[in-house]
Amino acid sequence: MQHDNLVEIEDVAFGYGTRPVLKGVNLTAKRGQVIAIMGSSGCGKTTLLRLIGGQIKPGQGTVRVAGESVGELDPAGLYRLRRKMGMLFQFGALFTDMSVFDNVAFQLREHTDLPEDAIRDLVLMKLHAVGLRGAAQLMPAELSGGMARRVALARAIALEPTLVMYDEPFAGLDPISLGVTGNLIRRLTDTLGLTSLVVTHDVQESLKIVDYVYFVSEGVIVAKGSAEDIRASDLPYVHQFVHGEADGPVPFHYPAPSYADDLRLGG
Ligand SMILES: Nc1ncnc2c1ncn2[C@@H]1O[C@H](COP(=O)(O)OP(=O)(O)OP(=O)(O)O)[C@@H](O)[C@H]1O
Ligand SMILES: [Mg+2]
Repeated sequence: MQHDNLVEIEDVAFGYGTRPVLKGVNLTAKRGQVIAIMGSSGCGKTTLLRLIGGQIKPGQGTVRVAGESVGELDPAGLYRLRRKMGMLFQFGALFTDMSVFDNVAFQLREHTDLPEDAIRDLVLMKLHAVGLRGAAQLMPAELSGGMARRVALARAIALEPTLVMYDEPFAGLDPISLGVTGNLIRRLTDTLGLTSLVVTHDVQESLKIVDYVYFVSEGVIVAKGSAEDIRASDLPYVHQFVHGEADGPVPFHYPAPSYADDLRLGG
């Protein structure tokens, strides 16, 4: 049976050691959607993606992908499921000693028994999809930041995943590359029949391409809705995010003892 919801996160809690990060998160992504996950730095967005990818297991609740409970899969089951997931890592650099072509081919060579000429066609199709077929023989050092991001995107979709997760795909891009990357995520999702989860700080760019947005704060979802809902929201948290205001409910500091106590250095 095909599940309408590709990703279902139900009441998920997770902490590193004793420090809780997520405290009961609910989130769903329907097949074919582009979903944005937003929230301030350190709120647990990357952690949420790692739970979906099965790198970590929830302390409470369930994470289901295509109907399978990720936290309960054995290593073989997890391996099988991960083949259906593409990931654009937050700081994911390309392999610097391999050409663009070999970077995109890497997973195909690792995970399939396809002959080299089939791999070649697949790699060139993926590079074509991101507009960089002509750059196949370049080395990563010869690419601009925006081009490198698109190569990483081609690499993420190389195995034809059903789910692609992007961790900060817009970080460090100029306004044009930003728009190109956003449109590319939308277009690849629609043409390849993917489902996309985009973790980002970039509200304006993501509101142009998403079907639905979740805001994470203090370990829970504090707001959600369509781009239209989010733009019209008068929740202080969402307002601060959408309008990029420095002052508001989003804290700047990582939790710490009181400043005065800390500076007294035990004196
Ligand atoms: N491997 C780890 N071990 C211990 N603590 C961690 C680990 N990874 C993350 N954390 C902590 O968990 C919290 C959430 O981290 P996470 O990386 O999920 O945040 P984020 O929302 O992705 O932030 P950013 O927007 O800055 O990337 C942070 O407070 C971080 O310090
Ligand atoms: Mg992160």
